[in-house]
Amino acid sequence: MKRKVLSALLSVAMVATMLVGCGSSSEPAAAPAEEAAPAEEAAPAEEAAPAEEAAPAEAADGDLIVVGYAQVGAESDWRTANTESFKSTFTEENGYQLIFDDAQQKQENQIKAIRSFIQQEVDYIVVAPVVETGWETVLEEAKEAGIPVILSDRMMDVSDDSLYTCWVGGNFVKEGQDAAKWLADKLEADGRGDEEINIVTLQGTIGASAQVGRTEGFAEGMQDNWNMLAMQTGEFTQSKGQEVMESFLKQYDDIDVVVCENDNMAFGAIDAIKAAGKTCGPEGDIIIISFDAVSAAFDSMIAGDMNASFECNPLHGPRVAEIIQKLEAGESVDKVQYVDEAYFDTTMDLKAIQAERLY
Ligand code: AHR
Repeated sequence: MKRKVLSALLSVAMVATMLVGCGSSSEPAAAPAEEAAPAEEAAPAEEAAPAEEAAPAEAADGDLIVVGYAQVGAESDWRTANTESFKSTFTEENGYQLIFDDAQQKQENQIKAIRSFIQQEVDYIVVAPVVETGWETVLEEAKEAGIPVILSDRMMDVSDDSLYTCWVGGNFVKEGQDAAKWLADKLEADGRGDEEINIVTLQGTIGASAQVGRTEGFAEGMQDNWNMLAMQTGEFTQSKGQEVMESFLKQYDDIDVVVCENDNMAFGAIDAIKAAGKTCGPEGDIIIISFDAVSAAFDSMIAGDMNASFECNPLHGPRVAEIIQKLEAGESVDKVQYVDEAYFDTTMDLKAIQAERLY
């Protein structure tokens, strides 16, 4: 009964959302290349309203709001922080029941989880999609059941964007653009602006927005004297990052820069570089550029191993809760919601910045 009434109300809300939200939003395409925000200018991570401060949410009939979260997996420190953000936000105390599913980086597991959420008649489905494509059928099923689907972190590439209510996450293309610009500026400052520079890239899961966007953004900033020697997936994990870097080091003895599409792969790459008897970081032979800016990346920069990390903010729990509360109130939400992100490098007071951060 509750499900049917709520479905009807939410269908109306979804239509309103699509009319208002879609009209003004564009595809989550590349934002124009802008100056990357250095840490000092960045909106602090605490900006997102902590769950405790939000008024407890309540379903239309006074019950807890049931949210199914189809999470990618537990492949990285970023992902752990993201899971924690959802678990600490969607609590009974805050008016929610969270059904959490870890897909172990497999799309088929996420599809199964979404179908199970539909069967359980949850009020909202939240998905951080492993990859961008292949979602139409299961989204149609959710729509048929009248359950709004909110995308968080990574995007879906679907022909009909009315199949989901909205998306909130980082701008992966801009992160890649910022990283390339940072490298160009650093090489110039080091007097290496005209030098032949050899780069390898450890990519994330192929087809994931974080991989697609960062690869695309960095490619846009490639200079004529930079050679991309090789790109290979390290699946966003430390062990695979290490394995791929070991193989790169066997194939190429003149690597100047390693672009790691997340911090955990960078940690693996650094281990491989050290094991091969080479050095990295600001005083070493190889420049390490990474993405996420988790706490362990600060440790790595402070230790002199990593040069820079481009932030990807994982604290989406409160943001998704805010979206749900607006939908519950019959308000419209923006279709595409980018989160502010900064970068951090070894020229900054990293200890002081790290002490203020939540992940
Ligand atoms: O989608 C965000 C990416 O996924 C993060 O960069 C990475 O650490 C995670 O696995």
